[in-house]
Amino acid sequence: MSIEKNELRRVMGHFATGVTIITTISKDGTPYGLTANAFMSVSLEPPLLLISVDKKAESYPYFEQSRVFTVNILRDDQEALSRKFAVSGGNKFEGVAYHRGANNVPILEDTLAHIECRLYATYDGGDHTLYLGEVLEAQTREGKPLLFYRGGYRSFSE
Ligand SMILES: Cc1cc2nc3c(=O)[nH]c(=O)nc-3n(C[C@H](O)[C@H](O)[C@H](O)COP(=O)(O)O)c2cc1C
Repeated sequence: MSIEKNELRRVMGHFATGVTIITTISKDGTPYGLTANAFMSVSLEPPLLLISVDKKAESYPYFEQSRVFTVNILRDDQEALSRKFAVSGGNKFEGVAYHRGANNVPILEDTLAHIECRLYATYDGGDHTLYLGEVLEAQTREGKPLLFYRGGYRSFSE
């Protein structure tokens, strides 16, 4: 007997994570992005990381189309930005400060870090697809991380 969907979501919510916005582009360079916490470091040589994208997400087709994406790790004052990118569709980039990276993908301003990737491998993950990205460029900034735990945004206290 397999676990019920809401129960699995509840249990997995006990694993505290940071919050990212993963950005990508369509063939004509239009920016797309979604809030994501399914993100992990995988390999140092070659430098690889993993993300998991819902096949029903509007931004889903553009990861394989462009074969480039950027992981933007959010700061604790970027909860509103996270909420904006967690709503499906529309022009999420209107009023959002960003510049284009070397891969032409949007890098959001004032995040804790960003990691520019090119698609290295793709794996089926049920209702999601797992994208392994090869890291091209990365940069960090000062600040504290935005956290997500048991279905709510949290902040880090030292
Ligand atoms: C904290 C948080 C983490 C999320 N993590 C993921 C994730 O790892 N992968 C994913 O596909 N969606 C994730 N989502 C849901 C997407 O952000 C949401 O479905 C979004 O509307 C997709 O946008 P799109 O349809 O415009 O591409 C997460 C949402 C929140 C609030």
